[in-house]
Amino acid sequence: MKQDVRISPSILAADFLHLGDELESIQNADCIHYDVMDGDFVPNISFGPGILRTVKKGTDLPVDVHMMVSNPDEVFEDYLDAGADILTFHFETAKHPHRIIDQIHRHGAKAGIAVNPGTSMESLDAILDYLDLVLVMSVDPGFSGQKFIDGTYRQLEHLTRICNNHGVSPVIEVDGGVSVANAEFLVARGARLLVAGSSVFGAPDHAAAVEAIREAGLKGLGKKA
Ligand code: DX5
Ligand code: ZN
Repeated sequence: MKQDVRISPSILAADFLHLGDELESIQNADCIHYDVMDGDFVPNISFGPGILRTVKKGTDLPVDVHMMVSNPDEVFEDYLDAGADILTFHFETAKHPHRIIDQIHRHGAKAGIAVNPGTSMESLDAILDYLDLVLVMSVDPGFSGQKFIDGTYRQLEHLTRICNNHGVSPVIEVDGGVSVANAEFLVARGARLLVAGSSVFGAPDHAAAVEAIREAGLKGLGKKA
């Protein structure tokens, strides 16, 4: 992944009747965001490892799997076996995060942790050093098309501070309500991987929407928050 600001369209907002065409339409993106929802940790059910295998056949891009499940310790290996390139689980759910991270790495994938808008970034203190990526939720997870929560900017500032204290620089991903309206400000606060669901698949030209969000984000590079 070569870009300074990377875009990961969330296929939760895609037209499932034409999933192959939808994947084709975003070949200029940097990865595919795959939202796993179990109807327990979040009030919605999406798709599991079987559809992930199908998605992997329909794209050459890396797939960024976001597990919104209550029991990641029990199911994460199914997503590695199905081809997840980046595997992210929620801080709020994992019983043994170090063990999960270790297994993801042994499998050759990147390990990420997701943090809800209501969870303090300081909670990551004990595991930050082991992560490739931190996913900052900018909505309460469960649905595409929700309103961006402004408190995300504070979360990003806290995360940058604790990363500096630790001397680490995981990829910072932001997910929920991301659009051309906020991409610049998210990147200015450290985000480098932007998830976009409805702002890409709700647009008439998906590839153009990806580029527009990337362009907006690039304006935030090198700017002080
Ligand atoms: C929300 C999901 C998001 C969602 C993003 O729970 O984790 O990835 O699909 O969709 P938008 O960009 O429409 O908020
Ligand atoms: Zn997501």
